[in-house]
Amino acid sequence: MKGLILSGGKGTRLYPLTYTRAKQLIPVANKPVLFRVIEAIRDAGITEIGIIIGDTGPEIREAVGDGSQFGVEITYIPQDAPLGLAHAVKIAHDFIGDDRFVMFLGDNVIQGGISPLIADFAHHDEWNSQIVLTAVEFPEQYGVAQLNADGRIERLIEKPKQPPSNLALVGIYMFDHHIFEATEEIKPSFRGELEITDAIQWLIENGYSVYPHIHTGWWIDTGRPGDMLTANSLVLEELTPEIKGTVDAESEVDTRVTIQDGAEIINSVIRGPAIIGQNTKIVNSYVGPFTSIYHDVVIENSEIERSIVLEHSTVCNIPTRIQDSLIGRHASVGINTLRPKAIKMHLGDHSRLELL
Ligand code: G1P
Repeated sequence: MKGLILSGGKGTRLYPLTYTRAKQLIPVANKPVLFRVIEAIRDAGITEIGIIIGDTGPEIREAVGDGSQFGVEITYIPQDAPLGLAHAVKIAHDFIGDDRFVMFLGDNVIQGGISPLIADFAHHDEWNSQIVLTAVEFPEQYGVAQLNADGRIERLIEKPKQPPSNLALVGIYMFDHHIFEATEEIKPSFRGELEITDAIQWLIENGYSVYPHIHTGWWIDTGRPGDMLTANSLVLEELTPEIKGTVDAESEVDTRVTIQDGAEIINSVIRGPAIIGQNTKIVNSYVGPFTSIYHDVVIENSEIERSIVLEHSTVCNIPTRIQDSLIGRHASVGINTLRPKAIKMHLGDHSRLELL
């Protein structure tokens, strides 16, 4: 089997972070979501992986390289415009050939990986496709499945106004070569894209076998800042703690905390689950649960929890606790001690600041 990861898209819902970085490279528990996807596919025994790239292609190529850092072989497949998931499959035809493959959206995070799913599909040669469904609160935001009484798929609809069920299509799909017939036949949807949901519906209508797998663990499509924080919390809960950096005698570090290489914890309290990145300094501060502080950050005389701070940022002398925040790269959050006493900001487009 081969793997196909979709890593194009502009990530507009994550502005301003995605003005300067591909959304798939934003870290969750200090590891880019895309790296988690590559590792999940590799852990399922697949080493030939194609990555569909768009405008952010150069950045993705630089981060992932030839795949050797993950023990896989990466082929990049450029997509000129974001014309839909089924369009991505279409342009991957040369790479996939006649192989069976798993397609994984590069911004999805799923509990438990995909090894059991792949094993299931691999054992059933007669299955043309397998899809993953999970119950969600707002099915109208996804592709939705309608099942019949014996649990077989009756119909799939992309972003229905009146969802026939609460079962959303998770961004993980398994196919054999028949999907390429479907991608030739379907027409663009209301949003002008070739929808993978329509392609799978075409398979069903044309007598091919599509099996659903109902996923009961968590699954996050990290499209919005809130989703990013939720994914961060869920992944942190499953992290195996490890202390590699240094913790001084005045500090208190919980058992569920990872301190990466070169990090320094000085006179501070860290409550887990949390992760502190390489060469980051936490000084006279409190880092609370569900927080990921990435590499080369300084947190000084401040309190922060349920947040993500990206590399090379500083948070200093903040008198109130920071919560539920997403702080980008090279950001500086501090106190103005000069007169006039006023709040000073240099915020990027689409930034959000909620003051007390
Ligand atoms: C895409 C698919 C949708 C699926 C979702 C999962 O939606 O079209 O069927 O449920 O991914 O993340 P999009 O992210 O393009 O809105």
